[in-house]
Amino acid sequence: MMKKQYSDELTKTILELKKKRDAIILAHNYQLPEVQDVADFHGDSLELSRKASKTDAKVIVFCGVHFMAETASILCPQKLIIMPDTFAGCPMANMINADQLKKLKEEHPKAAVVGYVNTSAEVKAELDVCCTSTNAVAVVNALKDKEEIIFVPDKYLADYVSKQTGRDLISWNGFCPTHLKILPEDIKRERKFHPFAKVMVHPECLPQVVSMADAVLSTSMMGKFAKESDAKEFIIGTEVGLIYRLKQDNPTKEFYPASERAVCPNMKRTTQEKIFWALEELKEEVKVPEDVRVRAKKSIDRMLEII
Ligand code: 13P
Ligand code: SF4
Repeated sequence: MMKKQYSDELTKTILELKKKRDAIILAHNYQLPEVQDVADFHGDSLELSRKASKTDAKVIVFCGVHFMAETASILCPQKLIIMPDTFAGCPMANMINADQLKKLKEEHPKAAVVGYVNTSAEVKAELDVCCTSTNAVAVVNALKDKEEIIFVPDKYLADYVSKQTGRDLISWNGFCPTHLKILPEDIKRERKFHPFAKVMVHPECLPQVVSMADAVLSTSMMGKFAKESDAKEFIIGTEVGLIYRLKQDNPTKEFYPASERAVCPNMKRTTQEKIFWALEELKEEVKVPEDVRVRAKKSIDRMLEII
């Protein structure tokens, strides 16, 4: 059995402190097991945004990456949003800034602007609609009357959406360094080892990997697929942290990572110890300035109206 990196005592302290602070802990599906174990709720980007907008708690401890905590701040300006480690960023989100997007918009003045939730608040403020990996296809399909569509920052998600919707998209040269580590030969090898397994991959993967999958899904949709499928074994083409979640929720099924190399270092920065200090000191706060927040919120509201 794997040795626990944290004590039951610390878990207990966090749970008590959380109550005292009227806080809720939200954790992305890629977080370390020790983090998922103290979370009130775990999910994908869309579910976490929804949960943040509905909670009555005064404080949200966001265990994920920076753009996710910013999204919570955009949706709940009256709440205190804290991150146990504010250095946990998303390299893909950092691949485009507001000035670069403004320039792209100037080059395509008639285009509708769709942006992945993996973007900064400043970039969201420049979007017409936000989307997540769960609803990107539905969002683009909802823009039928638009002649041109800009889709930023993930070129591979754009490629997947373009194939699913039959729309040409003006994309950006962004990508996820973690999902790029999953290669076609990984899928081939794992299929050979586990011939009865279904292959699920995230749409941030390379198009060659996406084309080999049985299902292309967001992290939480992978959980739903595993639960509902008759299959007993699954090859998982996304960040390895999801395997813990899948195993917890489906103890009788087997999950194999497509590649052990698919680790997002930023998602692993948060630990129980850092959560304890965040709750103790009520920091670090993530707060989006009001003028940016109001504009960014419109793009998220439009997304939530579509799906
Ligand atoms: P999900 O919305 O599918 O959880 O994806 C978030 C993410 O950062 C994937 O790398
Ligand atoms: Fe960003 Fe990729 Fe990490 Fe997701 S897995 S947070 S897209 S770097």
